[in-house]
Amino acid sequence: MNNSRSHSNNENTVENVSMRILFRSAVLDDVEFLLSLRNDPSAWSQFIQARYVSKEEHFEWFKGVLKRDDVKVFIILYGDTSVGYVRYEINEARALVSIAISAEYRGKGFGTQALKLTGQKILCLPNVTALKALVKENNKESLRCFENVGFCRVDREKKGNEYFIIMELGKAT
Ligand SMILES: CC(C)(COP(=O)(O)OP(=O)(O)OC[C@H]1O[C@@H](n2cnc3c(N)ncnc32)[C@H](O)[C@@H]1OP(=O)(O)O)[C@@H](O)C(=O)NCCC(=O)NCCS
Repeated sequence: MNNSRSHSNNENTVENVSMRILFRSAVLDDVEFLLSLRNDPSAWSQFIQARYVSKEEHFEWFKGVLKRDDVKVFIILYGDTSVGYVRYEINEARALVSIAISAEYRGKGFGTQALKLTGQKILCLPNVTALKALVKENNKESLRCFENVGFCRVDREKKGNEYFIIMELGKAT
């Protein structure tokens, strides 16, 4: 993995992603940011629940999430700017990962670094032995992003009309 990726274009310039990326646990104030990411069609079209969610539904869901010990949501920061989230849902020693980066920050290394940093933290939890992701077979950026941090393709599963690749990353031995 290239740890010192820089990217620039006419709209904004992003440099030294691996040096400047930070993350923190999500709080209730992040609800609007998370809703905007969730309802970006380019993001939700890639999720298992590929649909728009109402503000009310999202608020109720997120308030519930913040009370749960088995769900960890991290906000990804570039300087002071929130650029994405990574969520882990722990079930039977596996943490199911969900990730989205704001459209204007994609392709610049944030997703890869966000998974690397937050994944290390989750894999340190005593009740977690592996991280797991279900990625739509045609979601090349996401597949690449997970592979960049060491996830392996372990299976292929049909859900509805679509195929998902099941990817896993275990604790380092
Ligand atoms: C998937 C996602 C999180 C990746 O985040 P990202 O910040 O764009 O990822 P990175 O910049 O670290 O790039 C990951 C890889 O995808 C490639 N990539 C990213 N965007 C690309 C694009 N538009 N075209 C071609 N390749 C692209 C990168 O080159 C990189 O591969 P490389 O390391 O071999 O160069 C982001 O695209 C996203 O939020 N997508 C919508 C939601 C989604 O699909 N979530 C995942 C559901 S499982």
